[in-house]
Amino acid sequence: ISLSGFAQAVVRWQETHGRNSLPWQNTRDPYRVWLSEIMLQQTQVTTVLEYYARFLQRFPTVSDLAAAGQDDVLGLWSGLGYYSRARNLHRCAQDVMALHAGQFPRTAEQLQTLPGIGRSTAAAIASFCFGERVAILDGNVKRVLTRVLGFSDDLAKSANERALWERATDLLPQHDLPAAMPRYTQGLMDLGATICTGRQPQCLLCPVQALCSAFAAGEPEKYPVKTRK
Ligand code: ADE
Repeated sequence: ISLSGFAQAVVRWQETHGRNSLPWQNTRDPYRVWLSEIMLQQTQVTTVLEYYARFLQRFPTVSDLAAAGQDDVLGLWSGLGYYSRARNLHRCAQDVMALHAGQFPRTAEQLQTLPGIGRSTAAAIASFCFGERVAILDGNVKRVLTRVLGFSDDLAKSANERALWERATDLLPQHDLPAAMPRYTQGLMDLGATICTGRQPQCLLCPVQALCSAFAAGEPEKYPVKTRK
């Protein structure tokens, strides 16, 4: 199956069927996008909405967050869980002030050097805010791409994970850059959240069904392949 047209199909589907009115989508302020991505790492959208609004009311800028006491930050985080996220969030804000003159870096490579920002989160921020052509690969996107590609190598092995990152990079939009990047990144996230779900994926509604190796083989739920623990 030829994968030319994959990115364009994702972008077009996102425009009409993706999520387009979440509060962190109405901005290219890296502070706001970063905060949403950290909150969304382990928490559902519906829960994040309330916390996100309260957090921004209290800390409207990265400078406000950096200057806060850790107790204040942890207090506002209370209920979201995974408190190392909140401690890294605070440290990251302080590093942006101290090491980057109060401006978030504008490339995924540099964003990744900050506390709590891994490769996929860095790519999400850089693609949303700056249109950088970089791949994301969170849990949902791993599922989407392993299915489309028929990628059955065990992702617990780092060499295989590296190979999937390369394939993800090959699939990125080639046209209409940088404008296509935010929509492509959001489209992959939305496909994974709403269509290409872990159980009972809605392949009949999928914009890349015709390009999907797992659909062709009739076994989308086989992916992603992981070793038993
Ligand atoms: N999960 C992680 N990032 C997200 C985003 N930008 N929109 C919706 N869900 C997400």
